[in-house]
Amino acid sequence: MDIINKMSGPGRYLIGEEEKQEILDVLDTGHLFRFGGESDPQYKHKVVSFEDELKAHLGSEHCLALTGGSVGLLTSLAALGIGPGDDVIVPGYTFVASISAIIWARAVPILAEIDESLTIDPDDIEKKITDRTKAIMPVHMLGNPCDMDRIMSIARKHNLHVVEDCAQALGASYRGRKVGTIGDMGAYSLNHMKVISAGDGGAITTNDYDLYHRAFGVHDQGHLPSRYGEEIGKRGIIGLNLRMNELTGAVALAQVRKLDYILSTLRRNKKLLKDMISDIPGIGFRRINDEEECATLLTIMFDDKKIADKFASKIGSGNMYDSGWHVYNHMEQILNKKMPTNVGCPFECKEHGKDVEYAPHMLPQTDDILSRSVSISIGVVDKGLGSAFGINLLSDEAEIEAVAATIRKAMQEL
Ligand SMILES: Cc1ncc(COP(=O)(O)O)c(C=O)c1O
Repeated sequence: MDIINKMSGPGRYLIGEEEKQEILDVLDTGHLFRFGGESDPQYKHKVVSFEDELKAHLGSEHCLALTGGSVGLLTSLAALGIGPGDDVIVPGYTFVASISAIIWARAVPILAEIDESLTIDPDDIEKKITDRTKAIMPVHMLGNPCDMDRIMSIARKHNLHVVEDCAQALGASYRGRKVGTIGDMGAYSLNHMKVISAGDGGAITTNDYDLYHRAFGVHDQGHLPSRYGEEIGKRGIIGLNLRMNELTGAVALAQVRKLDYILSTLRRNKKLLKDMISDIPGIGFRRINDEEECATLLTIMFDDKKIADKFASKIGSGNMYDSGWHVYNHMEQILNKKMPTNVGCPFECKEHGKDVEYAPHMLPQTDDILSRSVSISIGVVDKGLGSAFGINLLSDEAEIEAVAATIRKAMQEL
């Protein structure tokens, strides 16, 4: 189907006049740096405005824009003081960035199973906790919030930090709270495949000023928030440069203003498609932990892999296990612990790290669930996620009906 030729998240489909105007506003002044004088008319404070509007949308105390979601996770871990000697529990079904951010923080990722929501299984988190565990990184995969009540109660019981990976779930809510505002810190991505997009870019949120303060320093060479005042002698932390610039901020600002529209469109379209196919015998869906999810994908679950494969081949797709790089089995760089250098590598750490191994099929529950699942795109058209077939943000009712008819026909032929 022609509608599927464009591979991207929903935000990209709405890049238009508003983004252009925000960009031109910045370009006209030539001031592309995120910092500037408050009274300087050349300074258009797009990054700060993006942070303010995202913070308001999420109901978070603090928000910091960065160059991407991966560095948002790394910055969050660093701000929390997680590093050598620490374990972080993370699901084996996620984008590799969740796992690599932990390794770059020089901590050790401990892979956990997912459950039928395709997010981390709280029962398995409990099984994986040891005296080395410092944090849990729940990943709100495919826009679906994790079971945050269970996760937060486990974290409180064992005194663990929680860094929410919200890269795929900007705007999703769990029991009335936006994801990313429930744990200690939340990280979001604005790359091409995400709910809103600036090409690349990211943000982190927290309700804790001290964590925000430390995160700001990590992302800006140790400087204090907004570089107020004379800085020499006041930098309490060694940081990097992970700052967002004003051009990215301009696009991110225009996009965050479209977030409500994007989410309501995705939710409406997903409901329409789901209602059209729910009566088909043999159709089941993944568990959704809150209906205020992002609704970027509709995942169909079968009782066994053979039927899932037959169905997937009829719609020109594949099961989610085979879909590609979101499955730990297909992350050769993680399985082989391939850091560019062993200096500072957590797997060379004396106390532990060497003893942690990653083996294909070490998470049988995850392998089983993914091999029985097939995703239909609602707004994230991505072969790498197993959602090359489906609709996109601009699809009209006729296209939704056509997709429903294809699914019905495929099911009848099984
Ligand atoms: C679950 C997850 N975490 C983290 C990231 C990293 O985000 P970025 O590409 O902005 O660095 C992604 C991006 O694909 C993701 O899907």
